[in-house]
Amino acid sequence: MEKIERVKNVAIRAAKAAGRILIKGMTEELAVTYKGELDLVTQIDILSEQTIVGHIKRHFKDHQILAEEGNNQESGSPYRWIIDPLDGTTNYAHRFPCFCVSIAVEYQEEIKIGVIYDPIRKELFVAEKGRGATLNQQPLSVSSRPILKEALLVTGFAYNLRDHPNNNLNHFSRLLMRAQGIRRMGSAALDLCYVAAGRLDGFWELNLKPWDTAAGSLILTEAGGQVTDFSGKTFLIDKPEILATNGKIHQEMVDVLAEGEDKGL
Ligand code: IPD
Ligand code: CA
Ligand code: CA
Repeated sequence: MEKIERVKNVAIRAAKAAGRILIKGMTEELAVTYKGELDLVTQIDILSEQTIVGHIKRHFKDHQILAEEGNNQESGSPYRWIIDPLDGTTNYAHRFPCFCVSIAVEYQEEIKIGVIYDPIRKELFVAEKGRGATLNQQPLSVSSRPILKEALLVTGFAYNLRDHPNNNLNHFSRLLMRAQGIRRMGSAALDLCYVAAGRLDGFWELNLKPWDTAAGSLILTEAGGQVTDFSGKTFLIDKPEILATNGKIHQEMVDVLAEGEDKGL
């Protein structure tokens, strides 16, 4: 096995280099194209991804890559990098300062490293399987808030929400009546980091992609949180539902989600 420390350091360097590109792009004119009615992409998403992939290929030529904007590589390597070069593109395009770079590394299909970098706040979230999670090198842990009615939650809405009846509005209205509050930050990777850091207590969303959740789900569990599907069963990055909490309010959220009709596609 490659030294996991080396893999982690390359992931951190790549995330920071991509972060510099995102910051620079904030003052440039953006060329926006649409992947769907609401799903947009900018030249900065592409440039960020090329930068990350360049770092990986310089150090680990044969590693597999799954990247949102399509710079994929398949090989027989047991390593696979899962990349969201800019999570929060809608925010980014509006100059709303809430977005990040997300990089995960799997070894034999298990996520071993998660790195998420918020270049606006210069916050670097890192987790290594079995070795905990950190924020700017300080240990991270989830909140100890014990009940849903005191909890601050976060969620998001998939880009196909206008076309699909399972659009999360049903769960949103139920949970809004039961929790202390709900936020919608527009970056699923940061949502997971904020639950890991105890700034928020629970996150749920439908129809996310592996690059949205791979790094953040490891950061959350290594910070002592719990991640499952809506029914409390094992979460997998290619499953359509994620429920991520401090552990304490998990069952209460499972119960409320079971009352609603929205399910992942
Ligand atoms: C999106 C963000 C958002 C979530 C969307 C994602 P993108 O990712 O994570 O919070 O609600 O479903 O697609 O497109 O900005 O990388
Ligand atoms: Ca994303
Ligand atoms: Ca993205």
